[in-house]
Amino acid sequence: MQTNLRNRDLIGDLDFSKEEVETVLDVAFDLKRKRALGEPHPYLRDKVLAMLFFFSSTRTRGSFEAGMAQLGGHAAFIESKTTQIAHGDTPKEIGEIFGRYFDGIAIRHVEWGVGNRYITEVARYSRVPVLNMQCDIYHPFQCLADLMTIIEKKGRDLRGKRLVVSWAYAASYLKPISVPQSLILQMPRFGLDITLAYPPEFGLMPDIVAQAQEEARRYGTAFDIIADPNGMEEACRGADIIYAKSWGPLLTTTDPEEGKRIQDQYRHWIMDEAKLRVAKPDAIYMHPLPADRNIEVTDGVLDGPQSVVYDQAENRLHVQKAVMALTMA
Ligand code: CP
Repeated sequence: MQTNLRNRDLIGDLDFSKEEVETVLDVAFDLKRKRALGEPHPYLRDKVLAMLFFFSSTRTRGSFEAGMAQLGGHAAFIESKTTQIAHGDTPKEIGEIFGRYFDGIAIRHVEWGVGNRYITEVARYSRVPVLNMQCDIYHPFQCLADLMTIIEKKGRDLRGKRLVVSWAYAASYLKPISVPQSLILQMPRFGLDITLAYPPEFGLMPDIVAQAQEEARRYGTAFDIIADPNGMEEACRGADIIYAKSWGPLLTTTDPEEGKRIQDQYRHWIMDEAKLRVAKPDAIYMHPLPADRNIEVTDGVLDGPQSVVYDQAENRLHVQKAVMALTMA
């Protein structure tokens, strides 16, 4: 199959076919090797990426910005509050105008019911690729980095291996549901069996779950849901990969106070050593970060030998450089 990703957007996880994702991974591994060897790889010399943020970031900003510099280009950090968006610049203005200044437009907008629509509308008017740095529905670059990390730890043949995508308690804020949604959409295509576990109020978007189940059917993988107030340990039993993180009960309520009240019932959904012990002995623990330490996940798990969280964070750099080089060249 011919892969030509030039000028393509990446907004939803299934925007790229499985073969196209395989190409992204091949390029990402090559770029990781080149960086390790100190080999220059200026595939985007003189190109400029606009990075428009409506929400805070550590990893996403750092890795996109460093990635563009390593590819020979530049990334312009634009915080939405410093723009004229509040004074009338619509997604059409951003798409039309930034599309004429820049060679790519990357956007983070996680507001529930708003973010994905905003990014899609910018893409409608942009002549250059639009890249989703996380919206309310998807976090595709996190998921590509997670897939790269899983392949590094478990090999290319993932058939028969089980990924647990589990809710975990957090106290800091109601986190977006984009990470678990991206995981359940992308991972069945690469052979992983999925167990999705959450307390009953923390279900994901029904159409995303239906799409994920369809992908699992298509690729002959298992897809199980445990929606039980005490289901975390059961989900972890015998797992190869545990991806336990918090997300808000957004399908139940969008009221932050009500959401917090619901969330506070499930403090026992902490990823700890006891739950890791019931997984396979060589199981890995994943989290996109930031994590609420000793609330969402214990220090012992997060800093322990089975945790791969810093490799996940590093791989953001390599997969993003791969997608930028393939779409913006
Ligand atoms: N994982 C992730 O997207 O991190 P940031 O929110 O720090 O960008």
